[in-house]
Amino acid sequence: METTGVKQLLKQKPKASLGFYPTPFYRLENLSKRLGINLFIKREDFSGQSLFGGNKIRKLEYLIGDAKEQGAEYIFTFGATQSNHAMQTVEACRKEGLTPILYLVAYVEPDEKDLRSNLLLDKILGAEVHVILKNPGESDAEVDARSVQLAREHMKRLIEAGHNCYEIPMGGASPIGTTGFIEGFIEMAEQAEAAEQQFDYLVHATGSGGTMAGLVAGKKLLNHPMRILSFDVIGHDRSYLENSAMLANKSLALLGLEERLTADDFEHDNSYYQPGYEMPSDKGNDAIRVLAREEGLFLDPVYSGKAFAGLLDYVDKGIIPQNSSVIFLHTGGATALFAEKEILGDLLDK
Ligand SMILES: Cc1ncc(COP(=O)(O)O)c(C=O)c1O
Repeated sequence: METTGVKQLLKQKPKASLGFYPTPFYRLENLSKRLGINLFIKREDFSGQSLFGGNKIRKLEYLIGDAKEQGAEYIFTFGATQSNHAMQTVEACRKEGLTPILYLVAYVEPDEKDLRSNLLLDKILGAEVHVILKNPGESDAEVDARSVQLAREHMKRLIEAGHNCYEIPMGGASPIGTTGFIEGFIEMAEQAEAAEQQFDYLVHATGSGGTMAGLVAGKKLLNHPMRILSFDVIGHDRSYLENSAMLANKSLALLGLEERLTADDFEHDNSYYQPGYEMPSDKGNDAIRVLAREEGLFLDPVYSGKAFAGLLDYVDKGIIPQNSSVIFLHTGGATALFAEKEILGDLLDK
């Protein structure tokens, strides 16, 4: 399909203007030389709207656009206490005159007297924040479900009092949010073409799955040859790919498009997330230091550092062969460099 056709369909959807697009796209000269590949970076961390941008802004443009069209007053969303998505949702709400309410799970318990990183920003932005502590023996899935249940009871009370509420799932991973990364893929493909470059690989971090679903749907629509390597930061199994295909398909259907994905369309690697979500890894922290010291750029320990560790390891092992052309999608998250020590680990040389 032609990009103009997809762009026309995207234009018909309600959209808030939150970021500054297209985000920068350029070659990393020092690392290209060191690694023996042609390495470009796509700076979604520069998306705006504040200094602390990231991949969620693209999704939020469509989600907040839809919320406003539906006359929402309150926006409910979810995540970890240091969720980038939650913080960026609060920023977007402030700009668009909506009231943000967050239900955040404390995988790492915050110190109320020394708030850090995104939770501090949420509070500066004046969000209503409900921190859900994990009960002994409660799994991550159980506490996530309890957080959603508590939020829905809260929403019900507001709706009964005559208010209009809008729910955004964790990570903005809904069919509407995913359209943002169909658009993101098109933007990147156009930048690659303008730079007269043919790329072999696109590398990025995947969590809730909306970014991956949108990118792979975009690739399918344009019949683009670039392979998309998605490094998982949570440790999902194959059912995640089936769910991500469903998510992408609902997003394609929303746009009135007939193309569909299956789990086999994704190239997903979950061997770099250990020891766990919001738990630092040596390889991830090595990768943060490599990008900082070679290019003067910051990654984060939860998402982009682990994905970049995957990229470095793939080059090292020849899975990404020498002389390949590669794009690293920088999805943001560097506020985590100022999070709790449990999230950050030891970033200094040992
Ligand atoms: C910095 C960063 N990178 C990557 C991701 C993963 O994006 P997605 O949730 O769309 O899979 C997130 C999600 O929170 C993020 O905050």
